[in-house]
Amino acid sequence: MKFALHQLAKALVLGTVCTASPSNHVRSFGWSSTFLETNGVAIGWLPSNGNASEGVTSPRYTMAEINVRLGAKGATYGMYSHLDSQQYNGYELMEEFDDVVNSGAIFVPSVMPVLAQGFAGITKDVAYQVADVMRKFTKRGVRVWLRFGHEMNWYVDPAAEPRYYGTPAEFVVAWQNVAEAVADNPLVEMFWSPNNIGNGSADVLDPWYPGDETVDLVGIDCYPNAEYQDFEYMYKNFYDRYSAGKNKPFAIGETGANATYKEWWLSQLVGQSRHEYPNYVSMSWFEYLKGDDFRLVMAGKKVLEETKRTLGLDRY
Ligand SMILES: *[C@@H]1O[C@H](CO)[C@@H](O)[C@H](O)[C@H]1NC(C)=O
Ligand SMILES: *[C@@H]1O[C@H](CO)[C@@H](O)[C@H](O)[C@H]1NC(C)=O
Ligand SMILES: *[C@@H]1O[C@H](CO)[C@@H](O)[C@H](O)[C@H]1NC(C)=O
Repeated sequence: MKFALHQLAKALVLGTVCTASPSNHVRSFGWSSTFLETNGVAIGWLPSNGNASEGVTSPRYTMAEINVRLGAKGATYGMYSHLDSQQYNGYELMEEFDDVVNSGAIFVPSVMPVLAQGFAGITKDVAYQVADVMRKFTKRGVRVWLRFGHEMNWYVDPAAEPRYYGTPAEFVVAWQNVAEAVADNPLVEMFWSPNNIGNGSADVLDPWYPGDETVDLVGIDCYPNAEYQDFEYMYKNFYDRYSAGKNKPFAIGETGANATYKEWWLSQLVGQSRHEYPNYVSMSWFEYLKGDDFRLVMAGKKVLEETKRTLGLDRY
């Protein structure tokens, strides 16, 4: 019974997927008309954290700075958080607490289980610590899409740095512990977000799928670097299987492209037919200089002007 009520609360918060018009579609997820939206896709950012020891060479950006420069309010606010021991306090998230609250965006924290104990270390106790950090935000009215263990299918690779440890079955248990810990908080949604699989069959991700009952939104991370890797190539197989197939909203938790492809890729992200992808609700852009210059807003003036044109902001 508790679980049924929880699901109902979540459904009310998420709204129903509505295709009547792009704006109604976005409004149904709780954003007011003051947030950035192009062609029915709410647009937001993962602002650079400025952390040089992660190879980031852009400074820290606040959402407030990005919004001022672009002249529009980012709809999602993505941020990384390392869950690196069984004592979790979300310090990376808390450092930016005021900027997150003031942005009014949906907060999309990527809580990364990089602890030595692996997925098996995400006990119920640790899961409640994660829930406590989320509650600090939701108490201030922030809506949270908790991207727990994002790109799990990539971060378990021995080449990944940092990396996750454990099996798909252990990941699923860790996920379910976290989902249970946030279940009484109607402002938290569980956002399942593996790493891209090229244009291959999406069923390879099935072992990592935690189950319909605990997944509120689905998405997949992609960084294309050639024009044949278009929206359809990158997302369609995933969308069909996990979004259309399970009637879950599709959100892009993280994406970007290098300086050659970034404006082309942005036009792909906002250029899709709502009839083909009716569940597609939002995307968060990796606004970083990290090896490549992914930035759409905080780089040079010329890039900014092109970004504004692609997002339809030059019309105002
Ligand atoms: C910067 O990144 C390193 C490596 O991931 C991490 O240990 C450190 O805590 C980060 N610093 C801040 C201020 O977030
Ligand atoms: C994947 O892309 C390759 C190269 O563009 C193409 O030949 C192949 O048919 C695609 N496969 C699927 C399943 O779409
Ligand atoms: C972007 O990536 C492609 C493919 O690797 C490469 O050919 C191109 O030179 C890169 N562009 C920049 C500006 O680095």
